[in-house]
Amino acid sequence: MTDVYAVVGNPIAHSKSPLIHRLFAEQTGQDMVYEAIRIDDEATNFKYEVAGLISRGYKGLNITVPFKLDAFEQATSLSESAKVAHAVNTYTFTEKGIEADNTDGIGLVNDIQQNGGVSFAHKRVLILGAGGAVQGILEPLLDALPASVHIANRTPQRAEVLGKRFETDIPISASGWDAIPEKASGYDIIINGTSASLEGKLPPISPGVVGENSLVYDMMYGDKPTVFMDWAKQTQPSCQTMDGLGMLVGQAAEAFYLWRGVRPETAPVIAEVRALMA
Ligand SMILES: NC(=O)c1ccc[n+]([C@@H]2O[C@H](COP(=O)([O-])OP(=O)(O)OC[C@H]3O[C@@H](n4cnc5c(N)ncnc54)[C@H](OP(=O)(O)O)[C@@H]3O)[C@@H](O)[C@H]2O)c1
Repeated sequence: MTDVYAVVGNPIAHSKSPLIHRLFAEQTGQDMVYEAIRIDDEATNFKYEVAGLISRGYKGLNITVPFKLDAFEQATSLSESAKVAHAVNTYTFTEKGIEADNTDGIGLVNDIQQNGGVSFAHKRVLILGAGGAVQGILEPLLDALPASVHIANRTPQRAEVLGKRFETDIPISASGWDAIPEKASGYDIIINGTSASLEGKLPPISPGVVGENSLVYDMMYGDKPTVFMDWAKQTQPSCQTMDGLGMLVGQAAEAFYLWRGVRPETAPVIAEVRALMA
């Protein structure tokens, strides 16, 4: 019997996850199929829908907007990363029930370190945004031992709450846009985790945060560089920019590993998905 998995969300038609998992399955020789299922968040109960998929023999799910919190609440058991993130993007169905995980953060960290070639160790990191995605990346990012982390957000209080929740030996500070500490030669790594790019907008931050050697990462992705990546390049033409496609493929690779016990290569899949998007 071929194992069946799916991504659930709303909207879902745009999802690249079925393509990514098909490429992973081909690369690793796994006998599985992966579907995209739209759940009507007005008319259907997430819990009821998941119970139906379990009874039909699905082995696991990826969960995307707007159900990551519902997925957190309905799980039988939560991994450490899901607990810390307060959100779930991966379900594995076992005889013990629904095992839940969050692979978004490790997807981003692996993308920057492996595909971007930039280690977080000893780096000064600036994070823009304090929503669900940033919440999910902080733990694996801090595990990679940066020198310091500053979180800036449109609503400064959200950044402050997040900074306090993740206090460790690594200095972590928080502010609104207008109080981001200046750094000589800019920040080493800047991550845009706001949804401003979705609206074609920029967080109103000083260009001084971008240095000649900064890595500037936008969690959003598309068939061309995001407005945030363009802004960074105009500010410092020598800086390195990346979009969030590698994070998407990286979180999928971790989910695939949880389900199949095989970790696929992400770089060829990122290249193929990007070529198809263009
Ligand atoms: N590549 C991937 O695999 C991946 C995975 C997850 C998320 N993402 C992307 O990450 C982004 C954030 O997602 P999320 O789930 O964290 O969303 P979210 O929970 O809704 O949080 C949105 C964040 O963006 C800020 N924001 C919204 N509009 C803004 C604007 N016009 N100007 C400045 N800041 C603005 C919000 O600030 P306030 O707190 O002030 O409201 C908040 O910090 C999205 O672009 C999403 O597509 C990518």
